[in-house]
Amino acid sequence: MFWRKKLRSLFRPRRHQVTVLRAPAGDGQKPDDVIRTIAVREGWMLLDALLKRGVDYPHLCKLGDCRRCKSVLVTGTIARAGHYAGALNPDEEARGVFLACRATPTSDCSIRSHKEPKAKQQTSI
Ligand code: FES
Repeated sequence: MFWRKKLRSLFRPRRHQVTVLRAPAGDGQKPDDVIRTIAVREGWMLLDALLKRGVDYPHLCKLGDCRRCKSVLVTGTIARAGHYAGALNPDEEARGVFLACRATPTSDCSIRSHKEPKAKQQTSI
């Protein structure tokens, strides 16, 4: 029984806490700028996880082409998947800009959208 639990925990996908911050309003970030914190399974695309958890994150194509999900990595690390040429320029990538539809978290992180995402009302069943 002990080994079964141990084995299950070894193969259970890791989760990372992702905090979504408000888009900059011009006067710096305050502690209440957090829109939502969600747990994201390792390997999941950030945009998919955010939409599944009820965050109305800006997006359109989910393919790395339209740039609507353009975000900034504030803390933590992400792995970027490929995107269409020209979706991001090298200067943006150097500043931590990424596409949420083409990135997966590799540690706990906080991100900021270039547009204001909205957290939908949670409804209980
Ligand atoms: S949704 Fe279009 S680039 Fe991410």
